[in-house]
Amino acid sequence: MRASDDPAVAIVTGGGGDLGRATAMRLARDGVAVTLLDNSLIGAQRTLAEVEANGGRGLALAVDVTRADTLAGALDAVENAFGGVTILVNCAGIEGTVSPIDTYPEDVFDRVMAVNVKGVFLAMQATIPRMIARGRGTVVNVASTSAIRGRGGLAGYVASKHAVLGLTRVAAIDVAGSGVRVNAVLPGPIAGRMIESMESQSGDGIQRATVAALARPEDVAAAIAFLASKDACHVNGAALVVDDGSTLI
Ligand SMILES: NC(=O)c1ccc[n+]([C@@H]2O[C@H](COP(=O)([O-])OP(=O)(O)OC[C@H]3O[C@@H](n4cnc5c(N)ncnc54)[C@H](O)[C@@H]3O)[C@@H](O)[C@H]2O)c1
Repeated sequence: MRASDDPAVAIVTGGGGDLGRATAMRLARDGVAVTLLDNSLIGAQRTLAEVEANGGRGLALAVDVTRADTLAGALDAVENAFGGVTILVNCAGIEGTVSPIDTYPEDVFDRVMAVNVKGVFLAMQATIPRMIARGRGTVVNVASTSAIRGRGGLAGYVASKHAVLGLTRVAAIDVAGSGVRVNAVLPGPIAGRMIESMESQSGDGIQRATVAALARPEDVAAAIAFLASKDACHVNGAALVVDDGSTLI
């Protein structure tokens, strides 16, 4: 069997969250072994239980994506269990605080950048060399429509998602020709915990103001699965917006 025919092995950071869970379920349905990395082990285990209940397989591991050492240990565990990682989905993220720029707390800004930006950087840095060594791999970074537009009160989040798109483009250029691809998905608001948190903090629903309908996590997971699949073999460095057209206005 050639390396490119080996079964797919995925890591989903933030695998205990709403989108991570839907992505894991979708990849598992496509026959992929899915490991959930989350700093909430309970969340990751909950997703794994759903994956296994539907006939899939995987691991649930406690990992803080801001720490390179825990990421490296997780990669070793996945390789021992299933073989080399072929898909990395960087889904871990936090929304931070909703507050105008003049009062936005510095410590929250630092934490949002650490998780949303450095976490993506470290996960790619840990995984991509192993993918390149095998000549095969695909990374999907979960950015947001906040990567291509401003949103009042979300300094940390919006800055971080612009940065994720920049990181994606740099990595895509760096891996070109190696058999590895790096793309970003840019969802609009998704039904679930994060948007509820933003809306409850903002009071007047600043997020919803320009949006016709919330996406289901499954809608975004389908776009992630496409970018991770061989159907997207010629797609590298792309920013796939999944927002029902709401950023066009
Ligand atoms: N929900 C939305 O409306 C929306 C829209 C666009 C993009 N996104 C992005 O999608 C991704 C997933 O969001 P979600 O809606 O599933 O949110 P969520 O809060 O349900 O899930 C996020 C997950 O990340 C985990 N996490 C947080 N910090 C971590 C860390 N340091 N290390 C490891 N795991 C950590 C959390 O425990 C949680 O399980 C995020 O990057 C988010 O910015 C969400």
